[in-house]
Amino acid sequence: MNWRTLGPRSLFVVPVVAAVAVAGLTFFGPTGAGQSAPAATPEFGSRLFDAHCSACHGPVGEGIEGRGPDLRQEGEAAADFVLRTGRMPLANPSAQAIRGPVRFNEEEIVALVEHVGTLGDGPGIPDVNIEGADIGNGANLFLLNCAACHVASGAGAPIGGNRRAPALAQATPTEIGEAILVGPGAMPIFSTFTDTEINDIAAYIEDLNQQGTTDALAFGGAGPAAEGLAAWLLALVPLIALTRWIGHAKPGRNHPRDDTEPPPDDHPGDTPTTAEDAAAEASAPDDGTVEREEVTPG
Ligand code: HEC
Ligand code: HEC
Repeated sequence: MNWRTLGPRSLFVVPVVAAVAVAGLTFFGPTGAGQSAPAATPEFGSRLFDAHCSACHGPVGEGIEGRGPDLRQEGEAAADFVLRTGRMPLANPSAQAIRGPVRFNEEEIVALVEHVGTLGDGPGIPDVNIEGADIGNGANLFLLNCAACHVASGAGAPIGGNRRAPALAQATPTEIGEAILVGPGAMPIFSTFTDTEINDIAAYIEDLNQQGTTDALAFGGAGPAAEGLAAWLLALVPLIALTRWIGHAKPGRNHPRDDTEPPPDDHPGDTPTTAEDAAAEASAPDDGTVEREEVTPG
């Protein structure tokens, strides 16, 4: 093999091979001491609770008038729900808790959930499984029990008292099961559903998600009357997507190219990993996008 025939890209090969070798050694070789994460002890959960929750919910979760409710019957289901949807810790106790960025890492969530579970005997985290569930039955149950607030599309709506039933687009099957058991905020608790019925409802909401009806945050403020608008906007989305696709990655827009020069490396991360790849890339013309050259966005 002649290094000169490989072209300038072969310069990348040596460092890449070396880096892969080093990474492999680091990964598979003996690990240094002190790399394992600290174990989630019960003390860890109670320390987190003292630091982030007790100011509103009280030191043993008994609740504080005007700040936060009693958590002793909320259980692991409620704690898991509020932490994984980013509802807690709340910034302002008089505002509705809404979905937001998750504030704790996995280990902290597990520790806090276990701690809240020890405060009383509320429901545990449900084991929701939508595979093979009866979507038709889920649809009936959803329309009878949930659509009054979340509307038939699952897009959510204001329910009075400055509260709103949120869009269901982001809720995972487990979170749906938790909401059903816990009744967060102004939502009622549905304690009569069987595990199978919960699976069916979650499967139906997942089906709505596939159809894209639940993600209506952009026009959610207007309530059920907005559903017609929703349908209209849903028709618009593919058009916008098409427009963006047409306008996407037009060669030369930001980096005018002179075809007599070798193409600049637009993808520095896309470094060939073998000498053969490097040789193939160096000799092949970089014409992957040429046939869209003359398409102009209308
Ligand atoms: C600033 C005050 C405040 C802080 C801090 C706070 N909460 Fe809350 N929490 C509330 C309020 C108010 C509610 C009732 C929310 C509602 O009704 O919409 C609530 C509700 C809850 C619920 C019940 C959910 C429901 O609506 O059924 C749980 C569980 C919970 N909080 C856990 C926690 C945990 C765990 C922390 C610490 C990580 C925490 N909270 C921090 C004020 C707070
Ligand atoms: C009386 C109105 C009402 C009914 C009926 C209702 N919900 Fe809710 N739901 C709410 C409200 C309000 C919230 C927001 C709770 C909060 O403030 O944290 C909510 C939150 C949720 C969430 C969390 C969504 C997220 O991503 O943050 C899920 C999931 C959910 N509901 C599912 C259901 C299901 C399933 C049913 C039927 C079995 C149902 N709800 C019935 C009012 C309702």
